[in-house]
Amino acid sequence: MARPLYNVVFVLGPPGSGKGTSCQKIQEKLGFVHLSAGDLLREERQREGSEVGRLIEEHITNGSIVPVEITCKLLENAMEAAGDAPGFLIDGFPRNQDNLEGWKRQMDEKAKVNFVLFLSCPVEVCINRCLGRGQGRTDDNEESLRKRVVTYNTHTLPIIEYYMKLGQVKEVSSEPTADEVFSSIVTVFKDAGYTANL
Ligand code: C5P
Ligand code: MG
Repeated sequence: MARPLYNVVFVLGPPGSGKGTSCQKIQEKLGFVHLSAGDLLREERQREGSEVGRLIEEHITNGSIVPVEITCKLLENAMEAAGDAPGFLIDGFPRNQDNLEGWKRQMDEKAKVNFVLFLSCPVEVCINRCLGRGQGRTDDNEESLRKRVVTYNTHTLPIIEYYMKLGQVKEVSSEPTADEVFSSIVTVFKDAGYTANL
């Protein structure tokens, strides 16, 4: 029997908009599996013997986007490893046209994208959050952050707009506190029909 489709929610927003924090909370409450594209790339960068570690490092430092063949494979492997989850929160993907096209090529027949959760937040608020969050990330410095914001505005916003035209975007302001943001997110998931545990 064919494997059921992976049930996917993409989570997008500027750097520091709270994607990781919100996804953690959704994972705890709904049992969705949180997969951060950035975290998977950082792991691969650290993996001994990785042939793409250097390439990933360069992109992360420059705030630019790693070729989709690498990122999408990491995502697919992680979904496969997770087994039968009720859903996957794919955080920080698709970030540009290459990500979007690669996903369609590789995953269209294996996954169903339910909606895109868009965490919107003014850029200055986001930058200050990143500078203050002390996660030890090599790209949470002012120079990398400026580049990440340019990449977001130039390459990621058009992807969000693409999904908006398809009526697939659910926007939540992530300017308030994490708890307030999460309660808006819960409403979004309820409206989308995920009532279990909510
Ligand atoms: O999402 P996060 O801020 O953790 O991503 C960190 C970096 O990882 C990005 O600035 C980018 O260089 C890389 N990345 C990528 N493609 C993605 C997600 C992240 O190249 N889809
Ligand atoms: Mg993140």
